[in-house]
Amino acid sequence: MCPDNRWRHKARTGRLIWSTRTFPQTDALYLTGAPKTFKDKVLIGNGGTESGPTRGYVTAYDADTGKQAWRFFIVPGNPADGFVDDTMAMAAKTWTGEWWKHGGGGNAWHGFTYDVEFDTLYIGTGNGSPWNRKIRSPGGGDNLFLCSIVALNPDTGKYKWHYQTTPGESWDYNSNMDIVLADLVVGSRAIKAILHAPKNGFFYVIDRATGKVVSAEPFARTTWASRIDLKSGRPVEIPGARYESGKADVWPGAGGAHSWHAMSYNPITGLVYIPTNHQGTSYDDTRIDLATWRAKPFSRGMGVDYTAAPNPPGQKSGSLQAWDPVRQKQVWSVPLESGWNGGTLTTAGNLVFQGRADGKFAAHAATTGAELWTFDAGLGISAPPITYSIGTTQYVAVLVGWGGVGAGFRGSELGWSYGAHTRRLIAFSLEGRAQVPKQPPPTFAVPLTPPDFLVDDTLAAAGARVYGLNCVRCHGIGATAGGMAPDLRASPVLLDLGALTQVVRDGVRLSRGMAVFPDLSDDDLRAVTHYIRKMAREAKP
Ligand code: HEC
Repeated sequence: MCPDNRWRHKARTGRLIWSTRTFPQTDALYLTGAPKTFKDKVLIGNGGTESGPTRGYVTAYDADTGKQAWRFFIVPGNPADGFVDDTMAMAAKTWTGEWWKHGGGGNAWHGFTYDVEFDTLYIGTGNGSPWNRKIRSPGGGDNLFLCSIVALNPDTGKYKWHYQTTPGESWDYNSNMDIVLADLVVGSRAIKAILHAPKNGFFYVIDRATGKVVSAEPFARTTWASRIDLKSGRPVEIPGARYESGKADVWPGAGGAHSWHAMSYNPITGLVYIPTNHQGTSYDDTRIDLATWRAKPFSRGMGVDYTAAPNPPGQKSGSLQAWDPVRQKQVWSVPLESGWNGGTLTTAGNLVFQGRADGKFAAHAATTGAELWTFDAGLGISAPPITYSIGTTQYVAVLVGWGGVGAGFRGSELGWSYGAHTRRLIAFSLEGRAQVPKQPPPTFAVPLTPPDFLVDDTLAAAGARVYGLNCVRCHGIGATAGGMAPDLRASPVLLDLGALTQVVRDGVRLSRGMAVFPDLSDDDLRAVTHYIRKMAREAKP
């Protein structure tokens, strides 16, 4: 990234040059995305739309000194405080109600691309905070710059243009996914294109010269919009999808048809390789008081209840697909059992590599999708592979580890129980002869059901609420862990209120990644034990 020798030298010594806080510790934000470098700067965003009333922004720092160069707010703040510039004043016209009290969201954590040819920085922005527009912006509105690609001047952070993929988003759709630059010829027209496959299920080709959409077609089941009108650039929405009546089953769901797992473009085959997720969501806000709902900092809250919607018969939850961006058509697809697979890497040698949720690392023929080789890594893979050469040897390397929101909410059927397997970096070459140490087999939680524990249904219902607000994101839906944290149904700690208090309220496991909840009362903790026992009893043997 940095051709300057000075930089290489610093990288070699590992000495700390600078470090900076990009938001105060007291803000309910987090950093899950990598910083990106461009020109003489470093860019970082943040996440947190589900963890409180948050307002997203990205910040650029001087790469030499770490001093803040500029900050771009993705959504406008309270008009009473005045707007930082005309761009925010323009964005504010697309909001209604008192959105600033909810933060608005838009947090950007992944899709940042610097375009040398146009000297422009593209930011892929996030979903609303909260998800439910009826709360966030009750009179409707597009809510700029949620779920958009925003083009910025890289030196000043000033706005150039934007394209919003999902106006007035209401489903946790975001455009944080990869922003890939490609030279395409569409008809007789040469286009400097952005290729973008966001959560909402449409594959977009956008003209970087104008910011206008060239074409957009669904690459997965989309029931929120029937098509993208190329003239206006806007989706043609399907009535009912905004859960106008309080409930709706919608595809793609909140997990998106494609999330942060890298897609890759191969200029030789002309195809894009997309790790695709096929899962709808049932949205339901009938139990929520829309007028008074407020997000609590550091507690999970979206302003709408949601569960997985049943997929149509025969539809597997995942696939690896090759997409032709010029013809806007799928060329091949490999169905996969799980939807939460790693990113793709494609090579000049007609290969596509992908690590999968089932722990297999696979190579496919880029032109046909035929599976040519697999390696059993013994643990789910979430990361994208990379390739590099040293001397005459080419390597392909991949991080093996089951992580991200997939490990929070899914994957209990895969057996990647918390702490049971070893996370590894594995590098392959044609000459490679090393043996990788064997992993233990998949292991599954065995829920504890002591006969003398009498479950009180009222307490269990109260416990479900405490659990949903505070514990679900790590310990899993229905107390079924996906691998990110221990399965509480199998934990003896839940059978001893004193031990539970030490872990949850006193923070004795903080250094091991267990969060602390000093505000939970004795009654809250007792209620959680009843909820967990109820879930343990209901578990399938
Ligand atoms: C940010 C993620 C996160 C959240 C949120 C979280 N936990 Fe944990 N929890 C963990 C991790 C990681 C561990 C494993 C720590 C260790 O290795 O000892 C853990 C361990 C535990 C244990 C010990 C399990 C055992 O048998 O060793 C209990 C009990 C527990 N959590 C309860 C809760 C409860 C109750 C909540 C909600 C009030 C909660 N946790 C919220 C991540 C989380």
